[in-house]
Amino acid sequence: MATELSHEQLSALAREYGTPLYVYHAERIREQYNNLLEAFRGADVRFFYAAKALTNINVLRYVNHIGCNVDCSSVNEARLALHAGFDPEKVLYTSNNVSFEEIEEAQSLGVHINIDSISNLRKFGRKFGHSYPVGIRLRPNIMAGGNLKISTGHADSKFGIPLENITEVLDVIRETNLFIRTLHIHTGSEIKDVEVFARGIEVLFEVAQQFPELEVIDLGGGFKVPYMPGEEGTDIPLLGKKVKEEFEQYEAKYGRKLQAWFEPGKYIVSECGYFITKVNVLKPAVNAVFAGVDTGLNHLIRPMFYNAYHQIENISNPTGAIQQYNVVGNICETDTFAENRPLPEIREGDFLVFRNAGAYCFEMSSHYNSRFKPAEVMVEDGTARLIRKRDELSDLLAGQVY
Ligand SMILES: Cc1ncc(COP(=O)(O)O)c(C=O)c1O
Repeated sequence: MATELSHEQLSALAREYGTPLYVYHAERIREQYNNLLEAFRGADVRFFYAAKALTNINVLRYVNHIGCNVDCSSVNEARLALHAGFDPEKVLYTSNNVSFEEIEEAQSLGVHINIDSISNLRKFGRKFGHSYPVGIRLRPNIMAGGNLKISTGHADSKFGIPLENITEVLDVIRETNLFIRTLHIHTGSEIKDVEVFARGIEVLFEVAQQFPELEVIDLGGGFKVPYMPGEEGTDIPLLGKKVKEEFEQYEAKYGRKLQAWFEPGKYIVSECGYFITKVNVLKPAVNAVFAGVDTGLNHLIRPMFYNAYHQIENISNPTGAIQQYNVVGNICETDTFAENRPLPEIREGDFLVFRNAGAYCFEMSSHYNSRFKPAEVMVEDGTARLIRKRDELSDLLAGQVY
């Protein structure tokens, strides 16, 4: 049974810190990471937490503290990771369509780098030759992921170097004497089917022999977590078993041992997060009631961005009679969090909690409508502490020149 925060704990935090409020439960992060270690026991594997999911420095520190590595999608994320105490050897920077200058900055930080275009690969080779091992992000032409916006490995995707350009890649390596240590793919997010990862391994193993100095196969992130009640996530133990078998078979066949890397973001932090909001107003809707909460797409955009489902609980009246609600935000677009959702009776002033609010939630928040970003709280060993204060007017003005 996974560790969770109770309705009473969440209500107390809402009263103490105000709403809207993001709450992260540290032990749940550790639990998810331990699940991975357990499932992949015996395999030569490293996990790099995809920091883009949630970069609060306290979360990064905690992830470092439990022994996990970190994957960064920008040089600033890499800087934050180093600031949080990660050793550069534990930091991976996987770029997409960035300038060569940004890659040079990452190189100067001493972190692992995956490059996703032939032009940057060539520039890197010309500048660093064999002196700095590097990874190549390939586009494996595999359709996967929960929706098109988070499908990143298909044949029409902007990510990675197309597999069909491998000859050109090999020419660049020959020309510049590059040291290719890693082959990387990330086919998408919310991939339930273990066979998709197996297909990715197969694709990379097919080309691996052309890279004599290869040490690592990096399969990216994308493990699905359950969002809806009764839904199932990726079968992590099955995946662990599969990866172990496939890599052992490769070693037996080619006499070459490769290490597997993964970059889970959502799997590590999604379930540790709770987003607590307060109901401001109730209004009639067709076949339902609008519950207008004190937040909107500026604080949690996933439902509007790609129809993400978040379980919602009325923690102020959990045993109330079930009614249909449209849970909507306070922003000047139609920011519907849930439509015709059966929920225990909602009264104005009730606290509603959105589950799975750890990954890509606060991280995608903005100041739209000049509203303050929510505060963030972390609960560790039963103790809550503020890890980001609620904004105030000076935060809206910060950086403006006037
Ligand atoms: C390169 C890369 N690695 C890892 C991830 C993390 O994916 P997820 O949060 O689905 O595990 C992403 C997500 O966008 C990504 O682009």
